Amino acid sequence: MRESDGTAPAVRVSGGEDARMTAPAPRGYDTLVTRLRALRSPFDRTGESAAVPQAFDQHASSYDRLVGANPGYHDHLRRSAERLTLPGRGAGLRLLDVGCGTGLSTRALLDAYPDAEIVGADASAEMLAQARAKTWPDSVRFVHSRAEDLAGAGVEGWFDGILAAYLLRNLPDIDASVATLRDLLAPGAPIAVHEYSVADSPAARATWTAVCWAVIIPLGWRVTGDPSLYRYLWRSVLHFDGLERLRRRLREAGLEAVRAEPMDGWQRGIVHTVVGLRAVS
Ligand SMILES: C[S@@+](CC[C@H](N)C(=O)[O-])C[C@H]1O[C@@H](n2cnc3c(N)ncnc32)[C@H](O)[C@@H]1O
Repeated sequence: MRESDGTAPAVRVSGGEDARMTAPAPRGYDTLVTRLRALRSPFDRTGESAAVPQAFDQHASSYDRLVGANPGYHDHLRRSAERLTLPGRGAGLRLLDVGCGTGLSTRALLDAYPDAEIVGADASAEMLAQARAKTWPDSVRFVHSRAEDLAGAGVEGWFDGILAAYLLRNLPDIDASVATLRDLLAPGAPIAVHEYSVADSPAARATWTAVCWAVIIPLGWRVTGDPSLYRYLWRSVLHFDGLERLRRRLREAGLEAVRAEPMDGWQRGIVHTVVGLRAVS
């Protein structure tokens, strides 16, 4: 996940024989070079996604504080949970929060459907430790598992609804995981994918980059001393599906009635809920 070892590189000095000599780089040079490299480096989904849960392990204790500074974060999770449009208070329903992290999306599910049974699953042991340390009713439990291996961790269907919040773009094989989650759904049951998706809109891409480099990356760096996860966040979103591609992906997985709904605030056009239903037959 780290993009620089922090050592200042040597730079070439221009002019005559000295052009082949090196001189120490000025302060900040390595940071600038790292940023420029990150701008043009390809996104290695398989390699980078393998390291994501460990990166979250290192940032688990500051996660809630940082996302709490993001206006709308909790409301938007709640909105995506409600967009599952499940009946009543969820009595008798089983729900899955995949990539539950510190339990903020689990809380959104619980607030929306307080009588449901809820399973939260995440690949980061430290994020889960933060989640488990919170107060939950007996109807909520947490499982340590990669989304790619839920069956191996004993997470079995059917679920009456699944929420995947800020998870999908972190997965090595998105289509395979969408198919796995579809198979965990009861016939006719919904999945809500809550995700950044900016690829279809130059304005959304520009806003996302501005917010990342003006606020998210500096704040994450200041609070944790390590900006790499926040730079990854910026890049992973830029390299993730546009809304059209994401909707198509869900439809191609056999989900029906696929619809996308927006958020408000600075996240309008940037964060979306995409909901689809498992086919009944
Ligand atoms: C940005 S956090 C979102 C947490 C929570 N859903 C929320 O909305 O606050 C992404 C979470 O996905 C988890 N994650 C990343 N890759 C994963 C994978 N392959 N399987 C399961 N969890 C994964 C990370 O450990 C992290 O807790």
